[in-house]
Amino acid sequence: MIEELEKLRREISDFKAKSSEEIEQFRIKFLGRQGVFKDLSANFRTVANEQKKEVGIKLNELKNLVQNKIEDFSLSSDSPSGESSAEDFTRSSGGIELGSRHPVSLIRREILDIFSRIGFSISEGPEIEDDWHVFEALNFPPEHPARDMQDTFFIEKDPDMMLRTHTSSVQSRVMKNTPPPIRTVSPGRVFRNEAISSRSHCIFHQIEGLYIDKDVSFADLKQTLSYFTKEFFGKTEIRLRPSYFPFTEPSAEMDVYWGLETETDYRITKGTGWLEILGCGMVDPNVLANCGIDSNEYSGFAFGMGIERIAMLKYQIDDIRVLFENDVRVLNQFKGA
Ligand code: PHE
Repeated sequence: MIEELEKLRREISDFKAKSSEEIEQFRIKFLGRQGVFKDLSANFRTVANEQKKEVGIKLNELKNLVQNKIEDFSLSSDSPSGESSAEDFTRSSGGIELGSRHPVSLIRREILDIFSRIGFSISEGPEIEDDWHVFEALNFPPEHPARDMQDTFFIEKDPDMMLRTHTSSVQSRVMKNTPPPIRTVSPGRVFRNEAISSRSHCIFHQIEGLYIDKDVSFADLKQTLSYFTKEFFGKTEIRLRPSYFPFTEPSAEMDVYWGLETETDYRITKGTGWLEILGCGMVDPNVLANCGIDSNEYSGFAFGMGIERIAMLKYQIDDIRVLFENDVRVLNQFKGA
């Protein structure tokens, strides 16, 4: 028996594992349920009493030797220089990082959800558009400043093509291609030639809504916006201030009564309690006519809002550039939202 143990000692000391499979086979061979040590312990009973002590000690030494080999292997494969580190399936995985949705996507989804609950479909269109869909169909006079190089990015090779300055261009397309009734919201990216600052960016996102049917009135517009405000902000008080857009008549700007409870409320509402949220109005009959809709039979309303502005209000972000930098320290705060 002593000789047998001596042979095993040499075998164990000489063993070198090249992979985690080999070390596993080694472990099974010696320590497994039908392994060498199982046999040895069975044979131990037959060892003469005066040898039992010596054999017992040697057996234990061998077991330790085997265990040390296995530990040494897993230590060396854990170290960065260990060649087989990629193959150690016993290492813990270190967890999988979950991503998060971008705040602009969160707001976009929430707004679209609200309007789809009251029957609005979603329509999208191209970011590079022609003059007709962006301006002409929407009643922009030729001298309107929005048509100026200072506001619009034109495509050099074709003066008729530009990056859309608002998603109203999608509404021109919908009106031209679908007979009323129309009830749709158009989300998308828009471009304006503006200097980038904490308050404005040359790229941002809008959602615009359009409703055209028989007998649509300003009261319908007000009711729809009031429903949206309640659902989205949880606020009930709105006011409509007269304004001007070439494609709506009358036009208005909608403010929400935000309140004056905290210091932030004072700051963002400039002490008035009111916040401007969106532009809206009744679709100008000229626009309907341009798109082939009979303005004697149909009327409609439209509204449009900037997603970044609403995200900034909702999440209390005071610099729009934060929404374009994709800093993970910011994005991580929206996990699970
Ligand atoms: N298109 C306008 C803008 O970009 C918003 C708007 C849409 C206003 C529809 C009125 C009606 O500012």
